[in-house]
Amino acid sequence: MSIDVLSIFPDYLAPLGLSLVGKAVADGVIALRVHDLRDWATDRHRTVDDTPYGGGAGMVMRPDVWGRALDDVLGGQDLTRTVLVVPTPAGVPFTQAVASELAHADRLVLACGRYEGIDQRFVDEAATRMTVRELSIGDYVLAGGEVAALVVVEAVARLLPGVLGNPESAATDSFGTASVGLVEHPQYTRPPDYRGHTVPPVLLSGHHAAVARWRRDESLRRTAQRRPELIEQLDPTELDAADRAV
Ligand code: ADE
Repeated sequence: MSIDVLSIFPDYLAPLGLSLVGKAVADGVIALRVHDLRDWATDRHRTVDDTPYGGGAGMVMRPDVWGRALDDVLGGQDLTRTVLVVPTPAGVPFTQAVASELAHADRLVLACGRYEGIDQRFVDEAATRMTVRELSIGDYVLAGGEVAALVVVEAVARLLPGVLGNPESAATDSFGTASVGLVEHPQYTRPPDYRGHTVPPVLLSGHHAAVARWRRDESLRRTAQRRPELIEQLDPTELDAADRAV
């Protein structure tokens, strides 16, 4: 997969060189390029923003600067499997299902806005040529799209073939396919006694079915306590008799 990130703070994306994404780049699974949007400004001050039409506080990023940047980054390629991702608190919620969809693209371009956001015409014009996803990573307002871009790239990267050492963990962790809409059960490792807190005995029992049942129960309990809205959304056919007893 090819990933381009556009930002006025390219250094903000430095973490993409580390850990799982960094390794995927080093292994050639991801071709990553980070660009400085100001390279497409035309004035001496490298201006990328202006005051909002209609008035109000803050500045809006200019569509012409963004448009030139996008055109150059895309480079006249076939756009059928290209997705432009625009992080914004006004976007559709970014979920595991959206991450899975994005993982099927050949190319992602992430446009990180700052200030009051990007002129809507940039998004609307791009949408006449390619798939555009305006995505929110949660109901809070960040200073810009860069951190959200890190979130999206990491969530997508771990779904790409050959990125995770153990593909099963992508499927079984919270919101992966195996747990269908539940948050994950708690995890334990050595030592067996940590400051008087011991490991649930069933995990030491060697009974695989009992361990699986315990984990499922803990997932359900945690989900009911922490994310009750997810329980409402569960497909009733996914629940077995033991689930209903939890
Ligand atoms: N930019 C600012 N806040 C954001 C959010 N919550 N999600 C995505 N992009 C953002």
